[in-house]
Amino acid sequence: MTFDIKPVKTKNYEGQKPGTSGLRKKVTVFQQEHYTENFIQATLDAVNASGFTLVIGGDGRYYGKEVVQLIAKIAAANDVKKLIIGQNGIMSTPAASNMIRKRKANGGFILTASHNPGGPKNDFGIKYNIQNGGPAPEAVTNKIYEITTKMTRYLIADIPDIDLSTIGTTTIGEGDETFTVEIVDPVEDYVILMKEIFDFDMIKTFFSKNKDFKVLFNGLNGVTGPYAKRIFIKELGLSEDSVMNCVPLPDFGGRHPDPNLTYAKDLVDRVRNEKFDFGAASDGDGDRNMIIAKDFFVNPSDSVAAIAANAGEAIPYFKKHGVTGLARSMPTSAALDRVADKQGLLHFEVPTGWKFFGNLMDAGKCNICGEESFGTGSDHIREKDGIWAILAWLNIIAFRNQKEKIGIKDIMLKHYSTYGRNFFSRYDYEEVSSDSANKMVDRLREIAKDGSFVGKTFEGYEIEKIDDFEYKDPIDGSVSSHQGIRIQFKDGSRIVIRLSGTGSSGATIRMYVEKYTNDASQFEADTQTTIKSIIKAAVEISQLKEFTGREEPTVIT
Ligand code: G6P
Ligand code: ZN
Repeated sequence: MTFDIKPVKTKNYEGQKPGTSGLRKKVTVFQQEHYTENFIQATLDAVNASGFTLVIGGDGRYYGKEVVQLIAKIAAANDVKKLIIGQNGIMSTPAASNMIRKRKANGGFILTASHNPGGPKNDFGIKYNIQNGGPAPEAVTNKIYEITTKMTRYLIADIPDIDLSTIGTTTIGEGDETFTVEIVDPVEDYVILMKEIFDFDMIKTFFSKNKDFKVLFNGLNGVTGPYAKRIFIKELGLSEDSVMNCVPLPDFGGRHPDPNLTYAKDLVDRVRNEKFDFGAASDGDGDRNMIIAKDFFVNPSDSVAAIAANAGEAIPYFKKHGVTGLARSMPTSAALDRVADKQGLLHFEVPTGWKFFGNLMDAGKCNICGEESFGTGSDHIREKDGIWAILAWLNIIAFRNQKEKIGIKDIMLKHYSTYGRNFFSRYDYEEVSSDSANKMVDRLREIAKDGSFVGKTFEGYEIEKIDDFEYKDPIDGSVSSHQGIRIQFKDGSRIVIRLSGTGSSGATIRMYVEKYTNDASQFEADTQTTIKSIIKAAVEISQLKEFTGREEPTVIT
């Protein structure tokens, strides 16, 4: 070796268990002595990273650049051969997934806490993705955790800080014992991929022929800004004022970079007041999306269903590869199942967490999938993809408009007339004490087990079945238990209650409700009015108020 490697004595930290999507904690937690180093070392050990090429992406949030430097030094010391890093430490989660696959890397680190706020007092996160470009499965994250409980030392190489701002390749060391760092443009390869998937010419022509079709994209000062500017303005010819908040900021400008009706309110207000035909937003690291029009909000469960229903006809990638199967996470509404049933496609219900789609995609059983949590994507990569979802919608609109003038609302109403409508809403109770949230869920588990609530009626809804969702992966046979309480009613309505796996302090209770109708006179009904009594039933059955003292949710989506 031509650089020195030093072992550093360390002690264990508790709680380094990666959640739904990596290790997410307050920045101040990561800043504790050896805390971040421990986690990086444990991850490299868990995957046997000697000889690896790894990609490093990130959403540009506070503390990201410091952690890139740490990863470089620890990786070099652990015989990692090469790092491919986004310029300035920035690369969206979907772009990183693509980069891992395209460059045949062994895996990668993505430095993000996704949609959680950033800045010195807020959140940071480290996520490890495997060779297929997707989040590490539980077997890997459990191993990482186990190693973090037995740390005695980490290794660090005495190499200079990397210049993250200049694109190019640097090799340190000689002969077989080299360590190479390549700084890449984080946008370029991703744009190439999008152009292979979608009909950019058709979308561009649609925009130029329909100058009155108004589009507004909100980057929420997250990582997608540079991607959006390049794609929507440069490639598709939209005007500069079609995008807002498109400069990535370490603290996202003080906002909560989550594309939903609450946190992307500035977009929602502008779209409604200034009558935009198409509004969209993406989250901090670029994997989530929201689609909205002046007269219609597309809930994410409907969005994936509508994309799936139209993809085979409208989107070149699916015209070429076909669509074999669809998948959704358990709490996501069954709108997608209806498309699968009608079109004779395979369909799967997996636990919350994009990682569960990976095996299905690798096995060729699922091409399009989505989650109620504003995640939509396909087998083009192994992460959900915000810009992809927005382009999918634009491609479908451009395709349909070849024959008739049709917008988001018309497309959704047509969809409902074919498949019916699944009204859906999620109520979040954030920062509840972990103790009371756990007690509440434990009680529901008991009820699910003993069957005592079956046949009981709440607010006019009779319970048909209650269970605690368990998933057996059809490809590798692994079993994930306790994935959420499902309360199924006789009329097809449903309640799901689970605890969030992505919070960084306290517990978040998520309550999901769903009601189906194929009565056309109801298709334009207001969602909240439609589901009001089911929500009441959910609060009653769960005894949420008694356990948590909360009267109202923090966020409704
Ligand atoms: C992340 C994951 C998603 C998941 C979401 C919700 O965004 O990538 O796959 O659906 O978190 O997780 P939570 O546990 O907070 O409901
Ligand atoms: Zn995200």
